[in-house]
Amino acid sequence: MTQTIHPPLLPEEFQRLVDEFFTVQCRYQAAIREIQTKLENLDEEFQMKHKRNPIHHMQSRMKSIQSMMEKLGRRNAQRSISSAVENLTDIAGIRVICSYLQDVYTVANLLTSQDDIHVLRVRDYIKHPKENGYRSLHLVVEIPVFLSEGRVMVPVEIQIRTIAMDFWASLEHSLKYKAQGNVPEDISQELIQTASDIAALDQRMQTIHDKVEAIAQTE
Ligand code: GTP
Ligand code: MG
Repeated sequence: MTQTIHPPLLPEEFQRLVDEFFTVQCRYQAAIREIQTKLENLDEEFQMKHKRNPIHHMQSRMKSIQSMMEKLGRRNAQRSISSAVENLTDIAGIRVICSYLQDVYTVANLLTSQDDIHVLRVRDYIKHPKENGYRSLHLVVEIPVFLSEGRVMVPVEIQIRTIAMDFWASLEHSLKYKAQGNVPEDISQELIQTASDIAALDQRMQTIHDKVEAIAQTE
């Protein structure tokens, strides 16, 4: 495989990108806040109705300028902020960690059925795990943000997964980073196996939860 080498950013080029990003950064931050508030509201209502929280915790992040430019370079797109705004849908990202498998879909359905949310993409890596074993439900949605110049639709990438899937993904990510992409085949196979063990555990925990719910309802 031939690899394209992208020239590193010069310090003055980087500073220009920082200044330029400053002007659009607040809309991504606003979009993260909007989605997070929606998710918190759904979680609270669910707690009132069902006496438990489907969302275990949430994390959010803004993509760094370095990683935006790296992704644009990989796609042979122009390395500028306007090109990032145009081409990247994961500048704003939220990770939602749920207690149980079914909660992942409950949260996704409740959020995407809200009429100010526009779903751009759904990738279900739970029903269709990646070859390496990665599991998560990925949504890219657009949400309106109201600025002084008016309404803008802002894309946000939402990754929804269980605690167990998150445990696997975060360790796999750091192992991949440590091995600098050269994970030996036997270790890759072992990771695929651990991912499927974890999926089985999620199923079992869901079954236990459903049984306990059923008992609680008859009491
Ligand atoms: P990126 O170029 O990585 O953003 O991929 P993409 O645009 O094709 O999107 P995809 O839905 O495949 O992945 C987006 C994000 O999901 C990544 O940035 C990671 O946070 C996470 N992710 C995807 N695949 C893996 C994986 O194999 N392992 C881990 N740990 N995280 C993953
Ligand atoms: Mg990404």
